[in-house]
Amino acid sequence: MPVAVKELGHVYMAGTPLESVALKDMSFTIQDGEFVGIIGHTGSGKSTLIQHLNGLIKPDTGTVIVDEIDLSDKNANLKEVRRRVGLVFQYPEYQLFEETVAQDIGFGPRNLGLSKEEIDRRVRAAVADVGLPESCLERSPFDLSGGQKRRVAIAGVLAMEPSVLILDEPTAGLDPTGREEILSLTAKWRQGGRTIVMVSHSMDDVARYADRILVLNQGRLAMQGTPRQVFSRQRELVKMGLDVPEVSKLCAALRERGFDLPDGMYDLKEMERAILQRVKGGKETC
Ligand SMILES: Nc1ncnc2c1ncn2[C@@H]1O[C@H](COP(=O)(O)OP(=O)(O)OP(=O)(O)O)[C@@H](O)[C@H]1O
Ligand SMILES: [Mg+2]
Repeated sequence: MPVAVKELGHVYMAGTPLESVALKDMSFTIQDGEFVGIIGHTGSGKSTLIQHLNGLIKPDTGTVIVDEIDLSDKNANLKEVRRRVGLVFQYPEYQLFEETVAQDIGFGPRNLGLSKEEIDRRVRAAVADVGLPESCLERSPFDLSGGQKRRVAIAGVLAMEPSVLILDEPTAGLDPTGREEILSLTAKWRQGGRTIVMVSHSMDDVARYADRILVLNQGRLAMQGTPRQVFSRQRELVKMGLDVPEVSKLCAALRERGFDLPDGMYDLKEMERAILQRVKGGKETC
């Protein structure tokens, strides 16, 4: 189910003194099964963009087409689009409200009017997909740890069985263990050809998981490409107030000292191999 964004623009509070241009002339396509990372400085338009991808915000200019459904079309079936494109907001645990974890995860499927058996199947599958035991299903979501609450909230979106899963800063505010748990689960959520779109402030996280990265700057798509292509443009990223993965920084520092290493490396193992190769081959110059 490709998602095609063409010349998308969005202005908040247009025509008022508080007018704010959030997106300008943005075009890209996300293919089935891709893992796309979205990075950008605070206020660059990331959250505004992803809310267009499931029709929560309508384009002011341009189009968003999801699986041939044009979301700006007045007659577009937005309910169907939201079933296919699941959006996990920043801090989704604030939206938990039911008495038990099972009821919370089952909220979306119940609204679809599914049978009790199907709701139960989806709730159990979703709780397993977020790595929680079934024993937590009858607990109150409010008794869980921060990381567990977040996983319950994500399970609620997974229970809708979306083909595209969008996560806005899924690790924000979690401790290192909680972060790692969520990140390693993203690979599992991709199983079965699901598309993943992950907004993140962490270059290391997107470098590890994304096939392709979109870099937003002041509402525009400033760059897109593989992690290698994007991280080889370190100077431009720094100009936009962005960081690069630790490995890319180290490589750049080594290159400055005359070490012959390729541009855009971001993986520690890859860097280790490249250094060893050069040391063994006697090519090192420092
Ligand atoms: N509801 C709103 N009303 C008015 N302006 C808004 C609204 N939401 C966002 N904006 C403005 O639109 C621009 C883009 O905001 P957006 O939240 O999409 O950025 P972001 O990249 O997600 O930022 P962050 O990294 O802080 O989450 C910013 O200038 C912001 O102030
Ligand atoms: Mg945001």
